[in-house]
Amino acid sequence: MKFFIDTANLDQIREANDLGILDGVTTNPSLMAKEGIRGQDKILKHYVDICNIVSGDVSAEVIATDFDGIVREGEMLASLHPQIVVKVPMIKDGIKAIKYFSSKGIRTNCTLVFSAGQAILAAKAGATYLSPFLGRLDDISTDGLELIEQIVHIYRMYDFETQVLAASIRHSMHIVRCAELGADVVTCPLDPILGLLNHPLTDIGLAKFLADAKGSK
Ligand code: E4P
Repeated sequence: MKFFIDTANLDQIREANDLGILDGVTTNPSLMAKEGIRGQDKILKHYVDICNIVSGDVSAEVIATDFDGIVREGEMLASLHPQIVVKVPMIKDGIKAIKYFSSKGIRTNCTLVFSAGQAILAAKAGATYLSPFLGRLDDISTDGLELIEQIVHIYRMYDFETQVLAASIRHSMHIVRCAELGADVVTCPLDPILGLLNHPLTDIGLAKFLADAKGSK
Protein backbone atom coordinates (compact mmCIF):
# COMPACT_ATOMS: atom_id res chain seq x y z
CA MET A 1 0.00 0.00 0.00
CA LYS A 2 1.34 3.42 -0.98
CA PHE A 3 1.38 6.33 1.49
CA PHE A 4 0.60 9.82 0.22
CA ILE A 5 0.47 12.89 2.45
CA ASP A 6 -2.60 15.08 2.04
CA THR A 7 -1.30 18.61 2.56
CA ALA A 8 0.27 21.60 0.84
CA ASN A 9 2.44 22.34 3.87
CA LEU A 10 6.07 22.00 2.77
CA ASP A 11 7.43 21.38 6.30
CA GLN A 12 5.00 18.50 6.84
CA ILE A 13 5.80 17.09 3.41
CA ARG A 14 9.53 17.22 4.26
CA GLU A 15 8.92 15.59 7.67
CA ALA A 16 6.94 12.70 6.13
CA ASN A 17 9.46 12.36 3.31
CA ASP A 18 12.34 12.21 5.82
CA LEU A 19 10.67 9.16 7.39
CA GLY A 20 11.45 7.36 4.13
CA ILE A 21 7.96 5.94 3.71
CA LEU A 22 6.33 8.61 1.56
CA ASP A 23 5.16 7.68 -1.94
CA GLY A 24 3.49 10.92 -3.00
CA VAL A 25 1.40 13.97 -2.17
CA THR A 26 -2.21 15.02 -2.73
CA THR A 27 -3.38 18.61 -2.57
CA ASN A 28 -6.65 20.38 -3.20
CA PRO A 29 -7.68 24.05 -3.49
CA SER A 30 -8.68 24.18 0.19
CA LEU A 31 -5.29 22.82 1.32
CA MET A 32 -3.53 25.41 -0.88
CA ALA A 33 -5.66 28.22 0.59
CA LYS A 34 -4.91 26.95 4.12
CA GLU A 35 -1.19 27.55 3.44
CA GLY A 36 -1.96 31.03 2.05
CA ILE A 37 -0.91 30.02 -1.49
CA ARG A 38 -3.08 32.17 -3.75
CA GLY A 39 -2.86 33.28 -7.39
CA GLN A 40 -1.99 31.04 -10.33
CA ASP A 41 1.75 31.79 -10.45
CA LYS A 42 2.23 31.04 -6.76
CA ILE A 43 0.11 27.89 -6.95
CA LEU A 44 2.05 26.53 -9.95
CA LYS A 45 5.38 27.28 -8.28
CA HIS A 46 4.17 25.53 -5.13
CA TYR A 47 3.40 22.35 -7.10
CA VAL A 48 6.93 22.38 -8.50
CA ASP A 49 8.36 22.97 -5.00
CA ILE A 50 6.45 19.91 -3.76
CA CYS A 51 7.72 17.82 -6.70
CA ASN A 52 11.25 18.83 -5.80
CA ILE A 53 10.84 17.48 -2.25
CA VAL A 54 9.29 14.06 -2.98
CA SER A 55 10.06 11.51 -5.64
CA GLY A 56 6.50 10.18 -6.14
CA ASP A 57 3.23 11.36 -7.66
CA VAL A 58 1.86 14.81 -6.79
CA SER A 59 -1.83 15.47 -7.41
CA ALA A 60 -2.65 18.98 -8.67
CA GLU A 61 -6.34 19.82 -8.91
CA VAL A 62 -8.04 21.65 -11.79
CA ILE A 63 -10.46 24.46 -11.00
CA ALA A 64 -12.33 24.41 -14.33
CA THR A 65 -15.56 22.43 -14.48
CA ASP A 66 -16.19 22.38 -18.25
CA PHE A 67 -14.50 19.91 -20.61
CA ASP A 68 -12.41 22.44 -22.56
CA GLY A 69 -11.33 24.25 -19.39
CA ILE A 70 -10.40 21.01 -17.58
CA VAL A 71 -8.36 19.84 -20.58
CA ARG A 72 -6.57 23.19 -20.93
CA GLU A 73 -5.79 23.43 -17.24
CA GLY A 74 -4.89 19.75 -16.90
CA GLU A 75 -2.45 19.84 -19.83
CA MET A 76 -0.80 22.92 -18.35
CA LEU A 77 -0.50 21.26 -14.90
CA ALA A 78 0.86 18.03 -16.41
CA SER A 79 3.50 19.99 -18.33
CA LEU A 80 4.81 21.53 -15.07
CA HIS A 81 6.62 18.38 -13.91
CA PRO A 82 6.63 14.65 -14.80
CA GLN A 83 5.45 13.79 -11.26
CA ILE A 84 2.20 15.75 -11.61
CA VAL A 85 -1.06 13.80 -11.67
CA VAL A 86 -4.06 15.88 -12.78
CA LYS A 87 -6.82 15.83 -10.19
CA VAL A 88 -10.26 16.04 -11.80
CA PRO A 89 -13.62 16.25 -10.02
CA MET A 90 -16.20 13.48 -10.46
CA ILE A 91 -18.58 15.36 -12.75
CA LYS A 92 -19.81 14.64 -16.29
CA ASP A 93 -17.21 16.83 -18.02
CA GLY A 94 -14.62 15.50 -15.58
CA ILE A 95 -15.22 11.93 -16.77
CA LYS A 96 -14.97 13.06 -20.41
CA ALA A 97 -11.71 14.85 -19.60
CA ILE A 98 -10.30 11.79 -17.76
CA LYS A 99 -11.01 9.71 -20.87
CA TYR A 100 -9.23 12.34 -23.00
CA PHE A 101 -6.24 12.56 -20.62
CA SER A 102 -5.95 8.78 -20.51
CA SER A 103 -5.79 8.64 -24.34
CA LYS A 104 -2.97 11.22 -24.22
CA GLY A 105 -0.99 9.39 -21.51
CA ILE A 106 -1.69 12.08 -18.89
CA ARG A 107 -2.24 10.54 -15.46
CA THR A 108 -5.34 11.50 -13.46
CA ASN A 109 -6.80 11.33 -9.98
CA CYS A 110 -10.60 11.39 -9.98
CA THR A 111 -11.62 13.24 -6.82
CA LEU A 112 -14.76 13.82 -4.73
CA VAL A 113 -15.95 10.23 -5.10
CA PHE A 114 -18.71 9.09 -2.77
CA SER A 115 -20.30 6.06 -4.46
CA ALA A 116 -19.44 2.78 -6.19
CA GLY A 117 -21.28 3.94 -9.31
CA GLN A 118 -18.95 6.93 -9.60
CA ALA A 119 -15.98 4.60 -9.08
CA ILE A 120 -17.08 2.39 -11.99
CA LEU A 121 -17.40 5.40 -14.33
CA ALA A 122 -13.94 6.70 -13.40
CA ALA A 123 -12.34 3.30 -13.98
CA LYS A 124 -14.10 2.94 -17.35
CA ALA A 125 -12.76 6.39 -18.31
CA GLY A 126 -9.22 5.23 -17.44
CA ALA A 127 -8.47 7.22 -14.27
CA THR A 128 -5.05 6.40 -12.80
CA TYR A 129 -6.27 6.98 -9.24
CA LEU A 130 -9.73 7.15 -7.68
CA SER A 131 -10.22 9.16 -4.49
CA PRO A 132 -13.19 8.02 -2.37
CA PHE A 133 -13.54 10.46 0.58
CA LEU A 134 -14.18 8.12 3.48
CA GLY A 135 -13.95 10.63 6.35
CA ARG A 136 -16.56 12.92 4.80
CA LEU A 137 -18.93 9.93 4.54
CA ASP A 138 -18.26 9.06 8.19
CA ASP A 139 -19.04 12.72 9.01
CA ILE A 140 -22.61 12.20 7.76
CA SER A 141 -22.98 8.84 9.57
CA THR A 142 -22.40 6.71 6.47
CA ASP A 143 -19.65 4.07 6.64
CA GLY A 144 -16.80 5.32 4.44
CA LEU A 145 -14.84 2.09 4.90
CA GLU A 146 -17.75 0.10 3.44
CA LEU A 147 -17.37 2.15 0.26
CA ILE A 148 -13.63 1.38 0.10
CA GLU A 149 -14.41 -2.34 0.49
CA GLN A 150 -17.09 -2.21 -2.23
CA ILE A 151 -14.87 -0.40 -4.74
CA VAL A 152 -11.84 -2.65 -4.10
CA HIS A 153 -14.11 -5.69 -4.64
CA ILE A 154 -15.50 -4.35 -7.94
CA TYR A 155 -12.12 -3.23 -9.28
CA ARG A 156 -10.52 -6.61 -8.47
CA MET A 157 -13.41 -8.52 -10.03
CA TYR A 158 -13.00 -6.71 -13.37
CA ASP A 159 -9.22 -6.18 -13.20
CA PHE A 160 -9.64 -2.42 -13.49
CA GLU A 161 -6.22 -0.79 -13.41
CA THR A 162 -7.43 2.33 -11.57
CA GLN A 163 -5.82 2.47 -8.13
CA VAL A 164 -8.06 3.02 -5.10
CA LEU A 165 -6.64 6.03 -3.25
CA ALA A 166 -8.49 6.19 0.07
CA ALA A 167 -8.84 9.90 0.90
CA SER A 168 -10.27 12.10 3.62
CA ILE A 169 -8.56 9.95 6.25
CA ARG A 170 -9.19 11.22 9.77
CA HIS A 171 -7.13 8.95 12.03
CA SER A 172 -4.56 6.15 12.18
CA MET A 173 -7.16 3.38 12.43
CA HIS A 174 -8.59 4.46 9.07
CA ILE A 175 -5.14 3.69 7.59
CA VAL A 176 -5.01 0.24 9.17
CA ARG A 177 -8.56 -0.61 8.01
CA CYS A 178 -7.80 0.62 4.47
CA ALA A 179 -4.75 -1.67 4.44
CA GLU A 180 -6.94 -4.60 5.53
CA LEU A 181 -9.47 -3.81 2.81
CA GLY A 182 -6.87 -3.72 0.05
CA ALA A 183 -6.78 0.01 -0.81
CA ASP A 184 -3.85 0.65 -3.15
CA VAL A 185 -3.02 4.04 -1.59
CA VAL A 186 -3.97 6.06 1.48
CA THR A 187 -3.62 9.82 1.54
CA CYS A 188 -3.69 11.42 4.96
CA PRO A 189 -2.48 14.35 7.03
CA LEU A 190 0.81 13.95 8.92
CA ASP A 191 -0.75 13.20 12.33
CA PRO A 192 -2.49 9.92 11.41
CA ILE A 193 0.76 8.75 9.80
CA LEU A 194 2.78 9.57 12.93
CA GLY A 195 0.01 8.01 15.06
CA LEU A 196 0.91 4.63 13.56
CA LEU A 197 4.18 4.78 15.51
CA ASN A 198 2.50 4.81 18.90
CA HIS A 199 2.10 1.94 21.31
CA PRO A 200 2.46 2.25 25.11
CA LEU A 201 4.12 -1.18 25.33
CA THR A 202 6.81 0.03 22.93
CA ASP A 203 7.49 3.03 25.20
CA ILE A 204 7.49 0.88 28.37
CA GLY A 205 9.66 -1.78 26.74
CA LEU A 206 12.18 0.74 25.43
CA ALA A 207 12.42 2.52 28.80
CA LYS A 208 13.18 -0.84 30.47
CA PHE A 209 15.77 -1.83 27.83
CA LEU A 210 17.53 1.53 28.21
CA ALA A 211 17.47 1.31 32.01
CA ASP A 212 18.86 -2.25 31.93
CA ALA A 213 21.53 -1.22 29.40
CA LYS A 214 22.62 1.59 31.74
CA GLY A 215 22.70 -0.84 34.72
CA SER A 216 24.88 -3.37 32.88
CA LYS A 217 27.56 -0.81 31.93
C1 E4P B 1 -8.04 14.06 -1.18
O1 E4P B 1 -7.32 14.09 -2.13
C2 E4P B 1 -8.51 15.26 -0.46
O2 E4P B 1 -7.53 16.27 -0.60
C3 E4P B 1 -8.67 15.04 1.01
O3 E4P B 1 -8.35 13.74 1.41
C4 E4P B 1 -9.91 15.61 1.59
O4 E4P B 1 -9.90 15.37 2.97
P1 E4P B 1 -10.83 16.15 3.98
O5 E4P B 1 -12.19 15.53 3.94
O6 E4P B 1 -10.18 15.93 5.31
O7 E4P B 1 -10.86 17.60 3.56
